[in-house]
Amino acid sequence: MSDDKIKIAVFVSGGGTNLQALIDKQKSGVITSGEISLVISNNPEAYALERAKKAGIKYAVVPRKECGTQKEFEDKLNDLIAENDIDLIVLAGFMCILSESFTAKYLKRIINIHPSLIPSFCGKGYYGLNVHKAALEYGVKITGATVHFVNEIPDGGEIIMQKAVAVEEGDTPEVLQKRVMVNAEWIILPQAVEKVSREIKELKK
Ligand code: GRF
Repeated sequence: MSDDKIKIAVFVSGGGTNLQALIDKQKSGVITSGEISLVISNNPEAYALERAKKAGIKYAVVPRKECGTQKEFEDKLNDLIAENDIDLIVLAGFMCILSESFTAKYLKRIINIHPSLIPSFCGKGYYGLNVHKAALEYGVKITGATVHFVNEIPDGGEIIMQKAVAVEEGDTPEVLQKRVMVNAEWIILPQAVEKVSREIKELKK
């Protein structure tokens, strides 16, 4: 690992297709200012962990259920972040709530990908397929994805990047979810990670 790259931790809970996009874009040279040096999952069964293993990236499991309190959970996350000198945290399908004390500790150092054009279809309860169901029920013709900084407000932090995706006649939530992933999430998450990594690298000079 070269020393001038900032260190990135990716937090996951499930399939990890966004993690895969980051791994691929690191290999293909879209991400050059940072290096994924740790993957953390709250879910021991997450397929994302297989992706980390295959890519030779260090990973850790911190099961939320086994932590009595939120503080205990976050203390473990904080320890891993400190031990691994992490500069940037990327939430890529991480399904656990993070407290205000945690997000405040890493101000402008945590980013998240959300599968809609914020401020539409975001905030409490809008996760996974719910987001796409809501977009179809409302009848919007354009949706998309947003990468934003994470603060204490769910999906409320400063927007870093957005990309629009058309809703098509006959879309189901599943079909729309896949189109948003392929045409927006997997493109803008790596781009935003590079942008923020470059900025952090400059600040560290
Ligand atoms: C993505 O739709 C992402 O926008 C949302 O959770 C999903 C994670 O998918 N936050 P994956 O685990 O990256 O495949």
